[in-house]
Amino acid sequence: MHKKKRKMKIKQKQKRKSKDVSFQKLSVGEAKAVAEQESRAKLFRTRLEWFGAIGRNIAAIQHCIHGIKFKPIIKELRERFPGTTLEVLDEGAGRSSLKNSLLWRFKDLNVTTTDICEGKLWPMPKKPDKIANVLDLVKSFGKNKFHLVISTGGGAWRSPVPEKAFFQIVSVLQPKGTGIIATAIPKERLYQLAKRFNVTIQRIRTLESRQGDVVNSVIFTKNSGRKKK
Ligand SMILES: C[S@@+](CC[C@H](N)C(=O)[O-])C[C@H]1O[C@@H](n2cnc3c(N)ncnc32)[C@H](O)[C@@H]1O
Repeated sequence: MHKKKRKMKIKQKQKRKSKDVSFQKLSVGEAKAVAEQESRAKLFRTRLEWFGAIGRNIAAIQHCIHGIKFKPIIKELRERFPGTTLEVLDEGAGRSSLKNSLLWRFKDLNVTTTDICEGKLWPMPKKPDKIANVLDLVKSFGKNKFHLVISTGGGAWRSPVPEKAFFQIVSVLQPKGTGIIATAIPKERLYQLAKRFNVTIQRIRTLESRQGDVVNSVIFTKNSGRKKK
């Protein structure tokens, strides 16, 4: 009886693991879409060389549009990780001034920026610290690296495979870390994925763009215990 139970448990575990693999691998069609998106993003950025809106305060914009209050988030993370320098990732950072703003406000943070491509904007080319597609975050940084990951309008939103982008973001987050993403994944599906990825959604704010696209701005925490079934 015990043997049977153990066997069943192992089988269930393997099944769960193989399910998560599907969030790591791309199908042929998805790989094609991802490659297309990468080349389109690069072309778009090159064409934008002359484009304005320089020096806008992205932290303030994120604060207002997504309702992100960084002060309590950083305070909570400091309490959860005492004596640690918090590692923060601004994913799909683009021309955002968020890194500078966070460093100015909170001082003792390590902030890393990534983007699918290099910014070529006049007069201040903004290079990300690392060029990385959101889908390559684990490859670039390894799992469980950051205490806070922010992806507002970046890869989580733009990637043609948003669920896989979400999975990557969760994977690079440390257990008990906080994630903030803007994504087109519908609300109901987000709750299903939260169970699957073992995260707790704290808040979803649904926004509608001027073009009528719906985006869900999500704040979540990665659970440190085992998945609830
Ligand atoms: C509108 S900007 C967002 C900038 C900033 N995060 C903000 O909140 O204002 C979108 C950025 O996402 C980047 N991006 C698009 N697709 C991406 C992907 N798959 N992986 C990583 N970055 C991506 C673009 O290159 C661009 O810099």
